[in-house]
Amino acid sequence: MDHFLYRNGALHAEDVPVAEIAAAVGTPFYVYSTATLTRHFQLFDEALDGMDHLVCYAMKAASNQAILRTLADLGAGMDVVSGGEYARARAAGVPGDRIVFSGVGKTRAEIIQALEGGIRQFNVESEPEMAVLSEVAHGLGKVAPITIRVNPDVDARTHAKISTGKSENKFGIPISQARRVYADAAALPGIKVIGIDVHIGSQLTELEPFEMAFRKVAELTQTLRTDGHEITRLDLGGGLGIPYARSNEAPPLPADFGALIKRTVGHLGCEIEIEPGRLIAGNAGLLVSSVIYVKQGEDRQFLILDGAMNDLIRPAMYDAWHDIVAVEEPEPGHEQVAYDIVGPVCESGDTFAKGRMMPKLQAGALVAFRSAGAYGAVMSSEYNTRPLVPEVLVKDDHFAVIRPRPTFDEIISRDTIPEWL
Ligand code: LLP
Repeated sequence: MDHFLYRNGALHAEDVPVAEIAAAVGTPFYVYSTATLTRHFQLFDEALDGMDHLVCYAMKAASNQAILRTLADLGAGMDVVSGGEYARARAAGVPGDRIVFSGVGKTRAEIIQALEGGIRQFNVESEPEMAVLSEVAHGLGKVAPITIRVNPDVDARTHAKISTGKSENKFGIPISQARRVYADAAALPGIKVIGIDVHIGSQLTELEPFEMAFRKVAELTQTLRTDGHEITRLDLGGGLGIPYARSNEAPPLPADFGALIKRTVGHLGCEIEIEPGRLIAGNAGLLVSSVIYVKQGEDRQFLILDGAMNDLIRPAMYDAWHDIVAVEEPEPGHEQVAYDIVGPVCESGDTFAKGRMMPKLQAGALVAFRSAGAYGAVMSSEYNTRPLVPEVLVKDDHFAVIRPRPTFDEIISRDTIPEWL
């Protein structure tokens, strides 16, 4: 459920007409709903009720500080994957002891930054990283709390580019080697192993792959305890999918995910962390764009928008489907037209949808891409020197620009011409 509904013939973001934001900010822009972000965070938090837990929002999904602050104020922790994300989370007011640091290639500089700034734990992904972490922490006179990310060799049955839990993927250490690696970790002076981490992929639409992974983690917990390790924390990652095509998709709910966690690892008495990103932010955001032209091709009509692949790359990159709706509510029984919906960027990959049935639209009409809150603005670029798309946050009947559209001067002035030119 989200808070983008038609009211009096117009799409609203909570109590604000989307067209009103478009008039104030110009298109394209992203708009997020505070109520939806809040609700989605709370669904996860409630799903783990009764267990010692922390929901660490995977901020890579949507990392504007206003979104982070909204979630942190509700008690969220953060899952970060770079020094930049760490700095952003801290700037948004998230305390270090609510930040977990994931990612396969943490640099020395990032490790120092997090150790000095304060960190809840590092999720270590390889033996060389473990050695560097220990050395750096020891050198600073610190002991870094860590979990080790295991790769459970489970097929997440999702898009190949966002699947992470198979043995051929670059993530984690093979679960078959876990006992040896944990034994090695116990001997290192700068780290303290406190748990196990697993994350098998993103946009999972079934619970079975999670169940297989969590059962393997439960078994490993018992084994490691027998080996003498204190395993007190399990980070079970993110990955729960969202319905992108509302008409025919119904992935499991956070409550189902929580029940699965209780069933598979609840008996171990561990503190539980989860790292959801997409489910918190995805349906909490729209990308709003205007029709520049309606163009008649040889055998099809093109809807040419002012939003493009640089603003929302998911269709080009993952063949992702996003529901696209008219901001002005179509009349009941309205005429439907098949459009190829494209942006103005100079490549054919700049196509959002082919043969999409839409109400008949004219130049100037506003359209909204649903489910664009996660992996939308964060993956945008200035390709074609198109300004980075602005972001707006709505709360009840008011809205604020939380990232303005840069001017051409701001974009261009970042370049410097060498003195020999
Ligand atoms: N934890 C780790 C270690 C991750 O790598 C990810 C996502 C998450 C948590 C959050 O997963 P989520 O709950 O959002 O599924 N750009 C792609 C998605 C990439 C996901 C990368 N890792 C897309 O647009 O579909």
